[in-house]
Amino acid sequence: MAISRDWIAAAFLYLLVAAAAAEEGVARVAEQATEEPSFVLTLDAANFTEIVSKHSFIVVEFYAPWCGHCKRLAPEYEKAAVVLSENDPPIVLAKLDANEAANKEIASKFEIRGFPTLKIFRSGGKDIQEYKGPREAEGIISYLKKQVGPASKEIKSSEDVDAVIIDKEISIVGIFPEFSGEEFESYIKVAEKLRSDYIFGHTLDAKLLPRGDITINQPIVRLFKPFDELFVDFKDFQVDAVEKFIESASMPKVVTLDEDPSNHPFIVKFFDSPSAKAILFVNFSSEDFSAFKSKLYEVAEAYKEKNIIFMMGSLDASENVLEYYSLKKEQAPLIILQDEAKKYLKSNVRSEQIATWLKDYTDGNLKPYIKSEPIPEVNDEPVKVVVANNVQEVVFNSGKNVLLEFYAPWCGHCKKLAPILDEVAVSFAEDAEVIIAKMDATTNDIPAEFDVKGYPTLYFYSANGKIVRYDGDRTAEDIISFVKSNRDAIISPESGAEVKDEL
Ligand SMILES: *[C@@H]1O[C@H](CO)[C@@H](O)[C@H](O)[C@H]1NC(C)=O
Ligand SMILES: *[C@@H]1O[C@H](CO)[C@@H](O)[C@H](O)[C@H]1NC(C)=O
Repeated sequence: MAISRDWIAAAFLYLLVAAAAAEEGVARVAEQATEEPSFVLTLDAANFTEIVSKHSFIVVEFYAPWCGHCKRLAPEYEKAAVVLSENDPPIVLAKLDANEAANKEIASKFEIRGFPTLKIFRSGGKDIQEYKGPREAEGIISYLKKQVGPASKEIKSSEDVDAVIIDKEISIVGIFPEFSGEEFESYIKVAEKLRSDYIFGHTLDAKLLPRGDITINQPIVRLFKPFDELFVDFKDFQVDAVEKFIESASMPKVVTLDEDPSNHPFIVKFFDSPSAKAILFVNFSSEDFSAFKSKLYEVAEAYKEKNIIFMMGSLDASENVLEYYSLKKEQAPLIILQDEAKKYLKSNVRSEQIATWLKDYTDGNLKPYIKSEPIPEVNDEPVKVVVANNVQEVVFNSGKNVLLEFYAPWCGHCKKLAPILDEVAVSFAEDAEVIIAKMDATTNDIPAEFDVKGYPTLYFYSANGKIVRYDGDRTAEDIISFVKSNRDAIISPESGAEVKDEL
């Protein structure tokens, strides 16, 4: 789990930078906005139920006045409300101040845990769904237009085709001899479930569709996509099977990590996937790029059944991801493979080596790659330096009581903690059974024993292997007393106790 989250974090550093810049722009616009009558309905505890029950489709934003993301969303939400009020059927946007004492009961009823949270209420509030779409006007509009009306649109004419099969989007069309029966019902169920991620349609007339020149004598699901083989058919109508088919057929064979925003949804899915992930970092403008690309498609096809998914990252767009792994551009072309437990790496790979390398991986013949700074030659400061390559020795196998700080060089709270940790270390300087240590969590793999989500994170690993996270105040006094109360007595080998055997 921790691993995949880290991967997402790394891949998205560069996307987040772009998003932050965009959000700043929005904030500036917001300041200039003047008070005008709003298209967004204001709800409160007294009229929430009444208003929601009157609408077949209404979106409610649960917000708090102090929340920055809510302030940034407000002008976009308003713009969307204006446009959507003209939609057929109209789409109503509303908001509720979930911070207001009187409204807290409603917020808790709908399990609002963060702000802003948007929910879609259908059929007078009988059917509630989380809003998972974008936060800017254009995106809100297009997302909600897909949400309103039936989950799957009937295709009766070529205009209907244009509404369902949209450039650069993934669309799914069910082709049926009649709109009834088990198959049709399963199809509609899937459409309702996945409507926020894909566009769905259904038709009796396959000839209306692009590439419709086939005779269809049994129901099929046809998925159109703007990449790879462009469309795929599927004939099993079990709900689970259709869902699985859609999930897998809608992923490109090889996901591209570059600056093109239309690739971003696939990048998210890639990093979210539980499958083993292989990423090739290569210069997209280099002469041998096409050789790499065709090789990667070839192995992606071959390893599909083995549950390995593939991505190619352009060197220009992958800077942050490379930095995250402490890898250098000079190592490219380079391929990295991460499964649930371990990472594997091959630098300066040639296209013709990729298949063999993957085979070595599946045969279990590769040595895992561990991200680590070099083991320090001198380590005589009060706070000891731990890196991934000496964590076994200093922490797990030392038989001592170790307080370990995970920090990031850029983190302000870590800098504030540094002299305090020094003080703690000095106070234990004469105590051979206690070690105070730190690890740069940005340049070393964090051992799976520790769950590090923010910096600084402090963990205590006692002589007997008990792991306790430190969540107290960051004062020398409190940390010292925490160490004292959690430390284990060390039984010396002479006393006949079991000795650690692997030193
Ligand atoms: C709900 O009640 C509040 C407080 O009286 C009011 O400001 C708001 O306009 C009402 N909303 C609607 C949609 O009538
Ligand atoms: C990629 O290759 C092109 C063409 O050989 C070269 O001009 C460019 O500097 C390379 N980019 C990187 C990041 O190495």
